[in-house]
Amino acid sequence: MSRIFSGIQPSGELHIGNYLGAVKNWAALQHQFESFFCVVNYHAIIGSYEPADLVRRTHEMAVGLLAAGLDPAVCTIFVQSQVPEHTELAWIFNTLTPLGELERQTQYKDKASRQEQVMAGLLNYPVLQAADILLYRADVVPVGEDQVQHLELSRVVARNWNARFSSGAPYFPEPQPRLTPTRRIVGLDGQAKMSKSIGNTVGLLETPEQIWDKLRPAVTDPARQRKTDAGEPERCNTIYQLHRAFSPAETVAEVEVNCRGAKWGCIDCKKVLHQHMVAELTPIRERAVALQADPALVQDVLQAGAAKARVVASRTIADVKEKMGLPLA
Ligand code: TRP
Repeated sequence: MSRIFSGIQPSGELHIGNYLGAVKNWAALQHQFESFFCVVNYHAIIGSYEPADLVRRTHEMAVGLLAAGLDPAVCTIFVQSQVPEHTELAWIFNTLTPLGELERQTQYKDKASRQEQVMAGLLNYPVLQAADILLYRADVVPVGEDQVQHLELSRVVARNWNARFSSGAPYFPEPQPRLTPTRRIVGLDGQAKMSKSIGNTVGLLETPEQIWDKLRPAVTDPARQRKTDAGEPERCNTIYQLHRAFSPAETVAEVEVNCRGAKWGCIDCKKVLHQHMVAELTPIRERAVALQADPALVQDVLQAGAAKARVVASRTIADVKEKMGLPLA
């Protein structure tokens, strides 16, 4: 069976953008691949943060992943810092990563341009990401489009290491991205990608009332000023996109007809969406409530996940050190 690895930042509560763009897909893929899913807290300490806050966000992310359907009986869910081999391999990979490749990364350029003082960790972020993936010798990495460049770098690192230290068959596979079927989810403002820092999200664990309070004022087709104006679903962005993600195909077809034909007002359309969202999200919220009531259980799941991950990770590190002339501890 092929192996997959993916990581998610401990941003706290998942929102429906993370859910549709990543985690829902992971929950499906866990049954087809041997799967490792990691809360990447070492990536999250690049930039300023409060330690107590990071603890809370890491725990909440784990709750969200479990509630959204990742099953620790089927896949391995763990926190990056609990498997020290990640940083060990990252150092090794730093010695095989051309500086120019790192400086070319668009995410690095974006973030660095907005900072007065750029820390080395920001530049080296994709090296740690390569270590995450290659530590498990994963073939496939389910990610969004924004991670494709980081994955290319992982392949460069794998190739460089293989060229220098593999004897015979390449030791590290070159990991391929597997893009999520849902393209990036537009936020409630109809403008930007859904993102917690912009505040245009719907939380995965929000109640039906909270979800409605967000949907009701959400931006729709700007050309549709009154109910009698014909609308264009493609111009609507958010609500139409969410229908396609949450509503059955018949409903999506109905939305198209009733929007273009000015039969439904935007509020009617949002009410129908609300029903379908609530139907999918209610069981997730209920699981989350149960998990929130039992933090020790969540911590046990993460400990067990880290132990499973370490079995594979320590094997890889042992092989790598052996081939590189580095004595094991
Ligand atoms: N950089 C990824 C993101 O921001 C998170 C991540 C870290 C990751 N390590 C990974 C994703 C390994 C896939 C594989 O979304």
